[in-house]
Amino acid sequence: GITRHYKFNIVMQNVTRLCQTKSIVTVNGKFPGPRIIAREGDRLLIKVVNHVQYNVTLHWHGIRQLRSGWADGPAYITQCPIQTGQTYVYNFTVTGQRGTLFWHAHISWLRVTLYGPLVILPKKHASYPFPQPHKEVPVLFGEWWKADTETIINQATQAGGAPNISDAYTINGLPGPLYNCSAKDTFKLKLKPGKTYLLRLINAALNDELFFSIANHSLTVVETDAVYVKPFKTQTLLITPGQTMNVLLKAKATAPNATFLMAARPYATGPATFDNTTTAAILEYEKPSLSNSNNKKRDPLLRPSLPMFNDTAFSMKFFQKIRSLATGNFPAKVPKKIDRRFFFTVGLGILPCSKNQTCQGPNNTRVAASINNVSFVQPNVALLQAHFFNQSKGVYTTDFPANPPFKFNYTGTPPSNIMATTGTKVVVLPFNTNVELVLQDTSIIGAESHPLHLHGFNFFIVGQGLGNFNSSKDPAKFNLVDPAERNTVSVPSGGWVAIRFHADNPGVWFMHCHLEVHTSWGLKMAWVVMDGKKQNQKLPPPPSDLPKC
Ligand code: C2O
Repeated sequence: GITRHYKFNIVMQNVTRLCQTKSIVTVNGKFPGPRIIAREGDRLLIKVVNHVQYNVTLHWHGIRQLRSGWADGPAYITQCPIQTGQTYVYNFTVTGQRGTLFWHAHISWLRVTLYGPLVILPKKHASYPFPQPHKEVPVLFGEWWKADTETIINQATQAGGAPNISDAYTINGLPGPLYNCSAKDTFKLKLKPGKTYLLRLINAALNDELFFSIANHSLTVVETDAVYVKPFKTQTLLITPGQTMNVLLKAKATAPNATFLMAARPYATGPATFDNTTTAAILEYEKPSLSNSNNKKRDPLLRPSLPMFNDTAFSMKFFQKIRSLATGNFPAKVPKKIDRRFFFTVGLGILPCSKNQTCQGPNNTRVAASINNVSFVQPNVALLQAHFFNQSKGVYTTDFPANPPFKFNYTGTPPSNIMATTGTKVVVLPFNTNVELVLQDTSIIGAESHPLHLHGFNFFIVGQGLGNFNSSKDPAKFNLVDPAERNTVSVPSGGWVAIRFHADNPGVWFMHCHLEVHTSWGLKMAWVVMDGKKQNQKLPPPPSDLPKC
């Protein structure tokens, strides 16, 4: 591989959407941010210079960061923030991955405007395991807020505060024609008849899983989270925050007179009523120039139909269709012999509320979110440094529970008093541990789906189901042959998923719900993976420019 250099200046930039202009945090003045391109095996050096008043960190979402945990980016987990005026060079090599990922800010809610595509092409002379597309097009989903950055951050950091609701969903930063005052802010894709396009879908939205569909066109899914999958056709797909997906779009053989909308709107199951309006982009066929002579106005504009707001049955069925390619060139290395088993409950909960907080939970409590009833407290120094320099005392404890502290019918009525606990707790894993982890959604306050994201690893989704996980029956049905390999999995509302991963990457690895509101409420924890014995199984010391707290 080669070394590729990028310079990311974090600067403010005025941007107008929905007829309102505001100043947002950007990379190099671009919104969405610049695209990073590399080939598998390349090394990336991304020099980040912070020119804004906010602390910043960037995360390369889905990059394995093999023995380069110092470049992973989550604030106070692997690094302290890059403060105003400071510079940090993210330095990592793309190993054993190719496909679509993305980068985003990983501190408070700054990823609302700080995100962009990260495209990994196959090695030189290697080709896709599907026909070479005519063109590749990134399609990023996001959210737009009329409120200024300061207001959004303040709301986000006020524990127990009401969830922020954005004013629009966006495609490539543009809300599209279905919103007021937005017709000109519409992404347009021109198609040549008969050609095949590769859409690189990225869900960078803060708080919503999204349905996506294109009117009168079916899509072929060929890759998820930068792993090739067995191709399958679908009219509609579901993509959670943190997930990416490559789909092939085959243009019709002759140019129709209609234009087609591609559109996305939320799948949501929670008690919070998120705005369910629709973002859209326009797909337009290029006409052969001859027919331009009597050029009638293009019509009509065809809209796709999308599933209902809370269509969990669609969600379960769709995720089940995703299977690893599992061929000789692209094997599915599912861990078979499991060393450690974990059962984590994920969901909302409550915590005691003090006078200066917004107490929106029942009986004067505040709303929290937790894993195994522990609501994670962000430390004020980075866990990775504390771990590496043996200074964990007073920073974190290693007693994160392997099982929930009490058992109940997780998808039924919860017991009357379930107060969460707080702490900065981690699980320590010896190098090369094979882990099986069952994630169970709970109904405390309300059942909700949670897109759980694991840093530092891909995992295999060996099983999923509705209701309570049954440890004596469900494992017999696990798929150990060609399960989906991903970095983000949707724990279904009122159900569970089982994942497996091989802990071959020493460092501290964050795991959290990729709904920003749930992350703020504490739905997060970390795994500490110890060094192996051999030199190439150890985490090297930190780079000299690693920011200090
Ligand atoms: Cu995409 Cu921890 O994040």
